[in-house]
Amino acid sequence: MPKSVFVTQPYLPPLEEFIPYLEEIWASKILTNGGPFHQQLEQALCDYLGVKHLSLFANGTLALVTALQALRITGEVITTPYSFVATAHSLLWNGIAPVFVDVEPNTLNLDPAKIEAAITPLTTAIMPVHCYGHPCDVEAIQKIADNYNLKLIYDAAHAFGVKDKGGSVLRHGDLSVLSFHATKVFNTFEGGAIICPDAKTKLTIDRLKNFGFVDETTVVASGINGKMSEINAAFGMLQLKHIDAAIARRKDVDATYRKLLKDVKGIRCLENAVEEEANYAYFPILVDDDYSLSRDDLYENLKECGVFTRRYFYPLITDFSMYRNMPSANPENLPAANVAAQKVICLPIYPALTDVEQQRVIDKIIGTL
Ligand SMILES: Cc1ncc(COP(=O)(O)O)c(C=O)c1O
Repeated sequence: MPKSVFVTQPYLPPLEEFIPYLEEIWASKILTNGGPFHQQLEQALCDYLGVKHLSLFANGTLALVTALQALRITGEVITTPYSFVATAHSLLWNGIAPVFVDVEPNTLNLDPAKIEAAITPLTTAIMPVHCYGHPCDVEAIQKIADNYNLKLIYDAAHAFGVKDKGGSVLRHGDLSVLSFHATKVFNTFEGGAIICPDAKTKLTIDRLKNFGFVDETTVVASGINGKMSEINAAFGMLQLKHIDAAIARRKDVDATYRKLLKDVKGIRCLENAVEEEANYAYFPILVDDDYSLSRDDLYENLKECGVFTRRYFYPLITDFSMYRNMPSANPENLPAANVAAQKVICLPIYPALTDVEQQRVIDKIIGTL
């Protein structure tokens, strides 16, 4: 049996390149609390991503929780059921009620045409997800937010480095949140960030991620410990040196899948949206009824030959027990999300995936293996 292939494999630069960073940390004895690598990485990421202000976090979930607090969001927030569960969990952690709105069937992002009907007097914000790194319909969503005086926080966990015609997609809305989890395009083992438009908001966020301290003796909010450590920040600095090559390799993998799966009956590749610069974070395919197997049979068959794909996002967030009984979680309210959850498989895509391994995945789907 050939080596197992997983849906992703974290990108790790050569170990010896990391040693000098560790030596610096050992010499300085500064391990956390906004040390030199933390400061360097915030600036380097602003430069790389083309954004003005960025605050690093220990992970993306704490960043989402803090983003909601920074904007003092309460009541109800409109969001998508088709995401990783942390999107909705960040609302529950703040005592906010998620209101689920269906996705648009071609992009699997929150459907702007369905948002207005879900707004109530308790709605204070919209939290869409740039699912798989494909940008939402940011203009349409911003228009609704403006019309109803709602805040807009993008869960941009998948959207590192993605650009549209005007620049980084992370500039949209009031805040955007990134994840640097091991499975992401850019990883710091664990990590995350909030992107915000001004220095004043960054200061609020930085206080909230440090227990609410504003100086040595004053605490102004019940903030959390969301700080990224120096080890993670140093690793981020090293990762940035390799990120362009890593995304370029992902692009090749994406192009090969599209070319070789194009004519397979019953298999649809989710279109890369209209973004100017994609990040090729995931490779979702939709397994339609006219494919020779069901989605789950294909998933199991791939597993049997050592190819471990993922059915992201199945189950839907709205299928989990803490959300299932909410009125907006009713499957009748979310037909497109429910269809997608039954059809999607994410195929292996990562910089170290070899041509031979990718061909094995493709042959299995085509049915020649
Ligand atoms: C859409 C989405 N939101 C939030 C998160 C949470 O990020 P983290 O794992 O860094 O806490 C993830 C991934 O892990 C995600 O995919």
